[in-house]
Amino acid sequence: MRIAMPVIGGVLLFATVAVAVRAAPAETEPNIIEMRQTGYDLVQGTVTGIKEAVAAKADPKPYADGAAAIARWGKLIPLLFPKGSDTGNNTKAKPEIWSDRAGFEKAASNMNEAASKLSEIAKTGNVEGFAAQFKVLGDACGACHKQYRYRTS
Ligand code: HEC
Repeated sequence: MRIAMPVIGGVLLFATVAVAVRAAPAETEPNIIEMRQTGYDLVQGTVTGIKEAVAAKADPKPYADGAAAIARWGKLIPLLFPKGSDTGNNTKAKPEIWSDRAGFEKAASNMNEAASKLSEIAKTGNVEGFAAQFKVLGDACGACHKQYRYRTS
């Protein structure tokens, strides 16, 4: 019994914690709309850095990782817009994201491809090629926003 008691105590403690976690109020749980908006803001920050490098005709090599991260983000986008995440947190998501799912996923994969290519070009140090592909990426962002995001202002 002396050995068994702490084990039972431990199980009880675990059960109590598990119940407390389940009963946590909604606002302490990750909000998928806020997560995707934060991710987009980080992507925007990376894009702003690349934009400055392009304007300065700087060596693109240091931007290969950032571009690769944007490519990964493109793959994640569809998963961050599950059904039911069309309202709340001041979302700018248009209903077309769900009514034209194939088009939305294509827009995300276009961005993934553009960013992957940007990363590959960055590694070669080709300044002009990098600038040209950066424009392709910007167009891929804009194309999706035009169709699937409400204007922000
Ligand atoms: C496949 C569609 C799609 C692509 C591609 C896309 N976006 Fe967006 N973006 C959206 C949607 C939809 C929202 C609105 C999200 C929300 O409010 O729930 C958004 C929101 C944003 C926001 C605002 C986030 C906030 O804080 O509310 C920024 C900034 C942004 N995108 C930047 C970019 C950049 C930069 C790229 C390209 C590198 C890009 N997006 C590519 C669909 C896309």
